[in-house]
Amino acid sequence: AQPPPAAASPPAPSPSLPAAVAAAVVVTPTTPIAGQTTGTSGLRRPAATLVNNASYLPNLLQAYVNALTPAVTVGASLVVGGDGRYYNATAVQTVLAMAAAAGFARVTVGAGGLLSTPALAGMVVATGAAGGVGLTASHNAAGPDGDWGIKFQAPSGGPAPEALTDRIVAATLAVTEVRAVDFGGGRGVDVSTPGEQSFWGGAFVVHVVDPAAAYVERLREVFDFDALRAYVATPGFGLRFDAMAAVTGPYARALFVDALGLPAESILRGTPLEDFGGGHPDPSPAHTPDLVAALAVPGAGLTLGAASDGDGDRNLILGPGFAVTPADSLAILTEFAATAIPWFSRRPGGLPGVARSMPTAPAVDRVAAALRIPVYETPTGWKWFGSLLAAGRIALCGEESYGTSGDHVAEKDGLWAVCAWLSVLATAADAAGRLVGVEEVVRGHWARHGRTFSARWDYIGVPGVSAAAVMDGLRSGVVAAFAGEERPPPPPPRTDGDGGDSGGDRLDGPTLIHADEFSYTDPVDGSSAAAQGVRLYFASGARGVLRVSGTDATAAATLRVYLDAYRPWGEGVGDVDTADVLGGVGGEVARLARIAELTGRDAPTAVV
Ligand code: G6P
Ligand code: ZN
Repeated sequence: AQPPPAAASPPAPSPSLPAAVAAAVVVTPTTPIAGQTTGTSGLRRPAATLVNNASYLPNLLQAYVNALTPAVTVGASLVVGGDGRYYNATAVQTVLAMAAAAGFARVTVGAGGLLSTPALAGMVVATGAAGGVGLTASHNAAGPDGDWGIKFQAPSGGPAPEALTDRIVAATLAVTEVRAVDFGGGRGVDVSTPGEQSFWGGAFVVHVVDPAAAYVERLREVFDFDALRAYVATPGFGLRFDAMAAVTGPYARALFVDALGLPAESILRGTPLEDFGGGHPDPSPAHTPDLVAALAVPGAGLTLGAASDGDGDRNLILGPGFAVTPADSLAILTEFAATAIPWFSRRPGGLPGVARSMPTAPAVDRVAAALRIPVYETPTGWKWFGSLLAAGRIALCGEESYGTSGDHVAEKDGLWAVCAWLSVLATAADAAGRLVGVEEVVRGHWARHGRTFSARWDYIGVPGVSAAAVMDGLRSGVVAAFAGEERPPPPPPRTDGDGGDSGGDRLDGPTLIHADEFSYTDPVDGSSAAAQGVRLYFASGARGVLRVSGTDATAAATLRVYLDAYRPWGEGVGDVDTADVLGGVGGEVARLARIAELTGRDAPTAVV
């Protein structure tokens, strides 16, 4: 006998808005705006796109609300804050008016509308929010002629999973009306100072918080602030942190000056400006010339230089005349985690594992092998670390784009990385209290594990079709040629330090021994991603990776070529130039990818 058909369960009634809020909602008809897609990290557009089209942001936010559904928004809490760039203040008001109309009961806002990305992530978790809205285009230039951006954070605090961003993009194409409340008298909500404001008899509450306070308290749980305070008081110690006129200035002051007792001049460009002072807050040596110069002054007495980007999630670590590569930084933090950072040393059994994005040079793999812990290799984009962090498979992760973090928060965290390096330096300082420099720590790592060379060649502003042609050409060319073949085992590394790129290769140039295209399946939730970068492997053990940036705000594309090579430690290996080691491989990658032919570019726009 057939079982009786299951009774269709009635649809759960949609939770509805409190009547007083509903009465204040203004409904404005709208039509979909094409192209409201999200990239690696939310949506980024020229600020002018939003200024010139008053429906742009409301349409997108309505798509967020529609994709989330009333089951998530009504009665829930939300966090909002941004990097302070031009249009931040306007956008905060739009978010508040639409959050109330969507039925959110409570919105936590950073004072002045400011929250760094890691602070936002932490606040989402701390307040049990249904999500967070981060108003940032990260390291992209700001101001009326610069870019603007927005991203949605999941309840974990981390980037929204692709399933949600896909629903949001679909919702942008179906939006017919925008719903926002009128707070009365055409006024917005005053978010300038901390405090709670209640509307419609408490049906909607805006909680304005000190953006840095909770963030610094969280770092206090991760690091030994007493030990760091004592360390930075060592005679001769000096820090310069470049906030790049973006969001981290107030955080750096609360952390380095107020909590650790460093002098105020430790912070450069510490006041957030709407146009980031005209700079490009991407914390690489190329974009922090004043910081690099300050460190290089003989006798300046500086030990550590650092910088963070527009929204405070990236980090740059420098010593006098010396820059740490992101790949080395992750490897070194992994090496020192259990001895230098209480958050990790407290953990029974040590680090469970670590992760790096695929294009990131594999320096950390050697440390992980020594520690006998797994390394996960993920696609570019922090969201791929999220499930590994949440499942406890990894406690540390990082990427070549100057992002590193631990599992104290579901985002990368620039000032965390600076504190992590302070902790490493404090641990490395010898018993006599002698300061040990950044370069000495890195060379110590090379001596133990060998040296990984890495660089990124960026071809910026290439027509999208040309960048696509490069990738397609590789797929139908070298990738197809090696299809079905196993990648040969890596050759024994060359042991001399002359820096030439022909080791293991023909004398007239590097020899390609394998090519493939990276795809990934998340081992925790089974989500997957294909076409995440073409990899070219050379006989010397060097590697080239090509992908197209997912964070461009304009129609043009940035083609990225990532290069890495490895040398075991030996005479001279510490003194060769990265450019000498990787130049030949890079040239061969450009030739194989037909970059000049397909893009008209003979050389990269920038070498990072
Ligand atoms: C953002 C993400 C990072 C990612 C980076 C890649 O910063 O938060 O996780 O590594 O974008 O940017 P790209 O321009 O290379 O796509
Ligand atoms: Zn950023």
